[in-house]
Amino acid sequence: MHPDQEKTKAMSDTNSSKALLLTLAASAVLGGMLVIVSIQRSPDMATDSESLVALEATAEYGERLIRETTRYMGQHQPDPAKRLSGNDLDCSSCHLVSGSDPGTLSLLETASRYPRFSGRDGGDRDLRDRINGCMQRSMNGVELDRNSIEMIAMETYILGLGRDYSLMSEDKKQADEPPTFAEPDRKADLVAGQQVYENRCQVCHGANGEGLQESTDISEGYVFPPLWGPESYNNGAGMGRVLTAANFIKARMPLGQADLSDDEAFDVSAYINSKPRPEKSNLEEDYPELFRKPVDSPYPPYADPFPQEQHQYGPFSPIREYYRSQNNGQPG
Ligand code: HEC
Ligand code: HEC
Repeated sequence: MHPDQEKTKAMSDTNSSKALLLTLAASAVLGGMLVIVSIQRSPDMATDSESLVALEATAEYGERLIRETTRYMGQHQPDPAKRLSGNDLDCSSCHLVSGSDPGTLSLLETASRYPRFSGRDGGDRDLRDRINGCMQRSMNGVELDRNSIEMIAMETYILGLGRDYSLMSEDKKQADEPPTFAEPDRKADLVAGQQVYENRCQVCHGANGEGLQESTDISEGYVFPPLWGPESYNNGAGMGRVLTAANFIKARMPLGQADLSDDEAFDVSAYINSKPRPEKSNLEEDYPELFRKPVDSPYPPYADPFPQEQHQYGPFSPIREYYRSQNNGQPG
């Protein structure tokens, strides 16, 4: 993604005086978005909030929020009103290259998928709701105001990705990834998973899954993001499900050298998710229709007699078989 291209696009969507202001701001010494953010921070400018929203909620700002979430809206922000995310991850820790890379957890095709039904929420949800899903779980943070600058900026960016995707050539759309993860039909092995972790992951993500900070200034974020502990995703996040994690890890990790076998990806995912992490409240309200709950949801309640441990680590085929025999439809 080329930010300049995005900015041009965003500008063409605004009226010309706003575009002129944006150009002026962008050409200032500090660089466009820092200036625009500081315009919003300046109290005497905050008279016409609607035009400020239009001015700031650009795709470029959205891309920055997704790439450097910690820096722009992390918990170490000097401005308490901007402490929106609750851990030290960036959206791009999982949505690689700000979601502009084709493949697992890419955001290129996201725009076309919403609104859609969410089993977790029990109703139709739009893109803003979905972003808030990751805000409250993957980022262990707060629900953004649907009309906030941050929300609209990220949505604008993701909508722009969708337009880019529709213009991409077929070979550019191809993900450069190993074959999709195929689930082993067994319980995950935490001891084997720890071995994979120590041999292949620890060098970047740290002996205690704590990651590696960019500098001693914590507000700068991380070079290698944390995998567990207080600064990681919470137990209600998609990455907390062993199959979702294994799918991502097989496709993307170790970064730049994704070559794990299905067994290794499965075991190391279970190992990571066996470690302590922030706990989300009200998880029992997820999936109002319990039969829609994914088999690997690690938190109860369940509409089946299998123990929590089997939902966390497998094997999953007996659980799927149970739902099939109940004629309840398949769990999501
Ligand atoms: C810890 C990893 C992680 C982080 C960090 C993360 N996400 Fe996600 N995100 C996921 C996973 C996993 C899914 C798919 C969820 C599933 O399979 O249920 C997802 C799904 C999404 C989707 C829906 C994609 C689609 O095509 O349906 C959007 C939009 C999204 N995330 C936006 C964000 C934004 C914005 C942030 C930062 C504020 C963020 N995510 C941070 C893991 C993450
Ligand atoms: C060469 C360094 C490196 C190695 C080795 C590596 N990772 Fe990562 N990993 C990263 C980086 C960097 C990111 C964030 C992606 C980005 O910022 O582009 C990441 C992101 C992740 C994420 C999503 C974000 C989060 O913090 O939850 C998971 C999960 C993950 N890695 C698991 C693993 C596992 C499991 C292994 C070992 C099989 C591994 N990684 C090996 C560098 C590495």
